[in-house]
Amino acid sequence: MYGVIFDFLRSYVIERHGGRSTWDALLNEAGIGYKVYFPVAQYPDSEIVNLATTAAGMLGLPVTTVLEDFGSYVGPKLVTNYEMFVKPEWRTFEVLENASSNIHDAIHRHNPKRQPPLLRAARVTDNRMSVTYQSERRLCFVAKGIIRGLADRYGERINVRETQCMHHGADHCHFDLNRVT
Ligand code: HEM
Repeated sequence: MYGVIFDFLRSYVIERHGGRSTWDALLNEAGIGYKVYFPVAQYPDSEIVNLATTAAGMLGLPVTTVLEDFGSYVGPKLVTNYEMFVKPEWRTFEVLENASSNIHDAIHRHNPKRQPPLLRAARVTDNRMSVTYQSERRLCFVAKGIIRGLADRYGERINVRETQCMHHGADHCHFDLNRVT
């Protein structure tokens, strides 16, 4: 997994969970010790799982809750940090449509070592969307959080329901999105 995700995790821990000292404590507790993650370097997927599991243990929360909350933090950051990919007139559904058909695919084409998840978003009606997520990393909780974070960013209320999940044997996860306002 690319260092940019670890960078997001670091700022998430610092901003939402008590600052630099918590990040240092987390690295220690996870057995990693002092480490600087470079955004364009690649790190083992197991390291992000280790960090998320350790953070969940330290917070006394289920790891799924921590991953989803991390996703909700990342959603708005993606829009800001990757503004060259995101048009100003877009809202949640447009970001999702483009993350699937253009953004992730372009990232992978540009550098085949980058393996973003396979996302597919399809409108069912103006206010309903079907999203599928497929990745060996099985980080659908992060994806769900990203969707929630994007909705917050754009001031929209969107109910997100996961109707099938890779953690329960499905070959991809599926979300039903219902935009209320
Ligand atoms: C501006 C939009 C986006 C950009 C620029 C972006 C970029 C990236 C990049 C660079 C990675 C790391 C890939 C790697 O390490 O090989 C990644 C991973 C990921 N992205 Fe996106 N992404 C965007 C939107 C989204 C959206 C809308 C979702 C979900 C709804 C999403 C879900 C994920 C997840 C869950 C991962 C973790 C890796 C995995 O599950 O396999 N991304 N993204």
